[in-house]
Amino acid sequence: MNKVDLLDLLNSQEYISGERIAEKFGVTRAAVWKGIADLKKDGYVIESKTNNGYKLIKSFDILNGYEIKSRLKDKNLGFDVIYKKITESTNSDAKKNAGENNMIIAAGEQTSGRGRYGRSFLSQNGGLYFTIKICRSNNFYKTEDITFYPLIMAVAASSAIYDLCGVNLCIKWPNDLLYNTGAGYKKIAGILTEASVQAENRDISYIIAGIGINVNTGEFDGDLKNIASSLKIIAGTDFDRADLLCAIAENFMNLVDSSRENLLEQYKKRLLTGMNISFAQNGHEYKGTAHGINENGNLLAEVDGKIITVQSGEIHFI
Ligand code: BTN
Repeated sequence: MNKVDLLDLLNSQEYISGERIAEKFGVTRAAVWKGIADLKKDGYVIESKTNNGYKLIKSFDILNGYEIKSRLKDKNLGFDVIYKKITESTNSDAKKNAGENNMIIAAGEQTSGRGRYGRSFLSQNGGLYFTIKICRSNNFYKTEDITFYPLIMAVAASSAIYDLCGVNLCIKWPNDLLYNTGAGYKKIAGILTEASVQAENRDISYIIAGIGINVNTGEFDGDLKNIASSLKIIAGTDFDRADLLCAIAENFMNLVDSSRENLLEQYKKRLLTGMNISFAQNGHEYKGTAHGINENGNLLAEVDGKIITVQSGEIHFI
């Protein structure tokens, strides 16, 4: 009898007696008692009533492999799932994993969370950190379309966050998710997308899209407090991270299969425009206004009355 078997059984019944559980798995009553105690240690609430037995109360925000897998099961997205309570970086784990199936690697904490441009990403307990690794390339996303993946993750996550948490986030090009506090913007989530492309034929071996979301994290310390916030701070309540992960993964796969027009339309609805920005391109520093994006997802910035296309890099609000 392992934890998964026991959880499945408890989930399938209203009440079940210790005797019945022991019988079902061919174990002793003491082993059942220990199994129940272990689940309670993991955060599950299990009621026990004389004459009725054990009842699993619907769990809330328990982030583990069982919760992620069981919720993803109905969605039929075909992901292998790896969950680690703590890891260095789910993107690094995804790169090292030699599996050939699409997979999700999630963690409750990261000790060396990686951000864009070699920066670190603070990944404390209470947040949601995961990476979607797409190993099978499909017709639409060829090598030249690789830059659409960060946009896909930005749309997938912001719509799931709106649907499940009621928090409306905007996208700072290309893929920071920000909240407008009324007195400025604060970062809620960051996305790091990486890929491996074969040199001989430019085929994509895999795409890795990692996201870190400040879900149930408390107030940040020091300077971070002014630039970052969490869904919990905004909404005043905790959210179920396994539910959020599954909704994002489902949106992500739907967007991978949908048209580029649909993706860009949804992206534009949340894209921040009209802001004064600065950015670097070909060794020059520019100051201008974020105008929108083109059909390739590149930023269009207005600088001294002219439109400049920004293909990569990042922008700063002035
Ligand atoms: C950024 O804001 O610069 C991007 C941050 C991306 C963080 C996520 S958390 C999950 C995945 N694993 C990592 O090491 N990084 C990404």
